[in-house]
Amino acid sequence: MTDSSDSRPQSGFNRRTFIAGAAGAAVVPLAAKGATPDSGTTGRDSSLPVDVTLLVNGERKALKIDSRTTLLDALREHIGLTGSKKGCDHGQCGACTVLIDGRRVVSCLTLALAAEGQRILTIEGLAKGDELHPMQQAFIDQDAFQCGYCTPGQIMSAVGCVKEGHASSDEDIREYMSGNICRCAAYPNIVAAVKQAAPSIPSDQQKG
Ligand code: FES
Ligand code: FES
Repeated sequence: MTDSSDSRPQSGFNRRTFIAGAAGAAVVPLAAKGATPDSGTTGRDSSLPVDVTLLVNGERKALKIDSRTTLLDALREHIGLTGSKKGCDHGQCGACTVLIDGRRVVSCLTLALAAEGQRILTIEGLAKGDELHPMQQAFIDQDAFQCGYCTPGQIMSAVGCVKEGHASSDEDIREYMSGNICRCAAYPNIVAAVKQAAPSIPSDQQKG
């Protein structure tokens, strides 16, 4: 006779096995993508290097990396583009913001493999030769930084913010730039910079 007071799982399926199963399912697509064509298996060691080609600032970069490498680490450690900063490494400060196909992303939470085949734009690719991007010039004109650590992420995010059509008022700018933290609290100057540069940057909404 079964003791109904026994709370132990009878089926062998419990919270721990569920989590283990879910985690396993989550990594399958990544492992499959990370497998080399001749490996013949999706069960290869995910720590083995994989080939990936990233299109960064208009240049193709062929890398051999751990499949778990974030886009931020790929940019900084493998390509040598250190403009994107590592602040929190947890998606909370915005210092690592880059544009992928025109969309703002925090590169510390984006796998490099997931960015393959898409156009990645970093702070290094914003200027045209010696000519600064209007947003870079506006940050200088408006003194929109102190230590400068958050600035590359602020500028990339600001470009995205304008392109999204979210720069029509101070409130809008503050709201849509709220994912970018500035420990030096240069926020009023950042808002002023975004307002200065906005008319020079076509928004995707206007193109519509
Ligand atoms: S370093 Fe990516 S959000 Fe902070
Ligand atoms: S200028 Fe120092 S953190 Fe923003």
